[in-house]
Amino acid sequence: MFQENVQILWNKKIGPSYYCIGLTCHEGYGMAKPGQFIMLRLPAKTAPFLRRPFSIHRIITTDDRATGIELLYKVVGDGTDKLSRCRQGDSADILGPLGNGFSVFDNYQRIAIVAGGIGVAPMLFLAIALQTKGVDLSKCTVFLGGNSTDDLLCRDDFNRLGIRTHVTTDDGSAGDQCFVTHPLEMALEKNRADIIYACGPMEMLKCVVGIAAKHKIPCQISIETIMACGMGACLGCAVEKKDDASIYMHACMDGPVFEADALKFN
Ligand SMILES: Cc1cc2nc3c(=O)[nH]c(=O)nc-3n(C[C@H](O)[C@H](O)[C@H](O)COP(=O)(O)OP(=O)(O)OC[C@H]3O[C@@H](n4cnc5c(N)ncnc54)[C@H](O)[C@@H]3O)c2cc1C
Ligand code: FES
Repeated sequence: MFQENVQILWNKKIGPSYYCIGLTCHEGYGMAKPGQFIMLRLPAKTAPFLRRPFSIHRIITTDDRATGIELLYKVVGDGTDKLSRCRQGDSADILGPLGNGFSVFDNYQRIAIVAGGIGVAPMLFLAIALQTKGVDLSKCTVFLGGNSTDDLLCRDDFNRLGIRTHVTTDDGSAGDQCFVTHPLEMALEKNRADIIYACGPMEMLKCVVGIAAKHKIPCQISIETIMACGMGACLGCAVEKKDDASIYMHACMDGPVFEADALKFN
C-alpha cells in the first residue's frame, strides 16, 4: 500500500455526470488486482476532509511498468463535484491499492460479468486481467445495465477486447427495457457460466446472488459501502456476515469483493 501525492494526467468528461481521470502512481500498482480501490483526497483548501474510495478502472503502463491509474467516476456529491473541476497538472493524495480484489482463474472460461451503472468501473480492469490470464474473452459476456443510455459506459472497450455485451436500460433508451439481471438469467438457462462477477447497486447484487445460488454457479460481488478510512480503522464499512449476525466484516479490508454467499443482505 502506498500513500503518495500524485499528479492528474487528465480528467475528461465522458457523459452528463461521468468522468474518467488519469493519475500518476507508484510503480507498485503494477501488482494491483481488479476490484481493488484507492482512497483519494484533493488538496485541503478545496475539498472535503475525508478521502473518497474509487475502484481502479485501468492501469496505465509505459514499457510494461505501471506509471498511472485511471478511474471512472460519477458526480454524486461535493467530493466528486470538486474532483470533476480538477485539471491536468493538479495534485491529489492517494492511498492504495486497497482491499482484496476479484479472484481470476484460468480454468474458468465461460464468464458472466454483470455491471450496473458506475459499477462498471472495476470491470474493465477485470476483463483485462482475465485476458492476461489466458481466458478466451469470446466466451465471456458483459451484462451492462443503467437507468438510461447515458449510464451505459465502456461498451466499446469491452467490444474491442472481443467480449460480447448485452445492454439493458430502465427507460428503454438503449438495449432491452428491463433489469440487467433478466438477460443474465435468460443466458444462464441456455448456457451455464463457470463464474459470475458483479458490481453495482445492492439490489442488483442481491438479485445476482439469488440467480447464482439457483444455478449453483460460483459468484463474486464487489460492494460499495460508505468508507471513511479504507484501512480497517473507522468501522464505517461494517457488513454483516451471512448466518452469523454476531460477526461483522470490513468491506474495506475483507472486501470490497466477497463470495456471493458470504454476506447478509438487509
Ligand atoms: C470500494 C468502493 C469503490 C468505489 N468505486 C467507485 C468508482 O470507481 N467510481 C465512482 O464513481 N464511485 C465509486 N464509489 C463510490 C464513491 O466512493 C462515492 O460516490 C463517493 O465517495 C461520493 O463522494 P461525494 O463527496 O461526491 O458524495 P457525498 O457528498 O459524500 O455523498 C453524496 C451521495 O452519495 C452517497 N455515497 C457517498 N459515498 C458512497 C459510497 N461509498 N457508496 C455509495 N454511495 C455513497 C451518499 O450517501 C449520498 O447520497 C466506490 C465506493 C466504494 C466503497
Ligand atoms: S472504511 Fe474504515 S474500517 Fe473500513
